[in-house]
Amino acid sequence: MLYREMGRTGEKVSILGFGCMRLPIMGRYDQIDVEKASSLLDNALDQGINYLDTAYPYHGISTSHGGNSEIFLGEYLTESSRRDEIYLATKLPTWLLEDEGDMENFLKEQLKRLQTDYIDFYLLHSLKEKQWFHLEDLGVLEFLDQAVADGRIKYTGFSSHDETDFIKEVVDSYNWDMCQIQYNYLDENIQVGKEGLHYAADKGLGMVIMEPLKGGVLANNVPPEVQEVWDESQFERKPAEWALRYLWNIPEISVVLSGMNTMEQLQENLNTAEDSLPNSMTPEEDKIMEEVKKIYHGKIAVECSACGYCMPCPSGINIPLCFSYLNQAEMLEEYSEVRNQYYFMLKETEMAGNCLECGLCEEICSQHIPIREKLKEVARKMGN
Ligand SMILES: NC(=O)c1ccc[n+]([C@@H]2O[C@H](COP(=O)([O-])OP(=O)(O)OC[C@H]3O[C@@H](n4cnc5c(N)ncnc54)[C@H](OP(=O)(O)O)[C@@H]3O)[C@@H](O)[C@H]2O)c1
Repeated sequence: MLYREMGRTGEKVSILGFGCMRLPIMGRYDQIDVEKASSLLDNALDQGINYLDTAYPYHGISTSHGGNSEIFLGEYLTESSRRDEIYLATKLPTWLLEDEGDMENFLKEQLKRLQTDYIDFYLLHSLKEKQWFHLEDLGVLEFLDQAVADGRIKYTGFSSHDETDFIKEVVDSYNWDMCQIQYNYLDENIQVGKEGLHYAADKGLGMVIMEPLKGGVLANNVPPEVQEVWDESQFERKPAEWALRYLWNIPEISVVLSGMNTMEQLQENLNTAEDSLPNSMTPEEDKIMEEVKKIYHGKIAVECSACGYCMPCPSGINIPLCFSYLNQAEMLEEYSEVRNQYYFMLKETEMAGNCLECGLCEEICSQHIPIREKLKEVARKMGN
């Protein structure tokens, strides 16, 4: 296992972190297979993983409830006496905060569920522009200051799937130690993207990556034309290895989380983490990656450059974001994961189904996109 510093904290974290959102289950998502999950963690820790990521709702019946991931981890770490071997990261469910006292109540409950008296990395979970001002008004930053001062939190951070400009604003609003973003070789220009990654890293934040395999779609059911490129290369690698090596090649990245739920996945990713050094990919490997990206990007449905000229839409639709989700779904030939994200990230009023076909957007679109027709396609394929 290789280790890197977590930004300015200087803590030495394993480059592969264990994401506890996709633990093995027994049928239902909220029923963790404790035996299998414990063996996976035993093996992961024995082979050097020292970073575990969980959150309040993981393995719960909905995002409004506390799930079983934190509870399982608390029991596992206590019974195995391995709490001190690892960095524990969990997150405050920001969307459930209504009153000032809620933040304190969640932290107390999470410490209890995790059977510990401190969290190494405590993140504001899934920050979105539309709720950021509410959180600031509630005093979330002062709450973090207090919890760090009294030792219940060692380091602060946030996770987000929102856009670059918002992330830059958040980065500049507090003395964060780290942040967690979705990033993989197809996401260089969506969500926080390459620009946001470098911006945050330049400010000294440790960078933790989630969804490095886009939730698994970059590893499983790979389109045949992509598989052909992998097969024709002189490298004997599976698609997951290519995706992880691409990330570890980036020196600014401290930890790549993966939600591994079988021993085979864990072992494969551990093997890749053995020698994936920063700046280690050769020009030949870069060329292969570029070819694969080109094939995926060639499948996109709308040539939207997200210039934003079409905004604001009089009906309130977030046109560039609607197209971004349509493109992702077409590129990956996968709708269910992307549809979930569409419903998670967009307000109902921002969805494509609200189009009144006024056509103002088409008059100013720099790419001459038939926006009304394409929004109908988004609404049909996403269900609104
Ligand atoms: N803060 C947030 O908002 C947020 C959001 C998402 C995730 N996260 C965190 O980030 C972690 C990582 O994200 P993720 O779970 O989406 O990671 P990911 O690595 O992109 O996806 C995990 C899935 O990839 C597949 N996989 C992993 N290793 C593989 C291998 N070697 N070969 C083939 N398939 C492999 C598995 O899919 P199958 O199960 O289908 O086989 C696994 O469930 C999560 O577990 C969670 O802790 C946080």
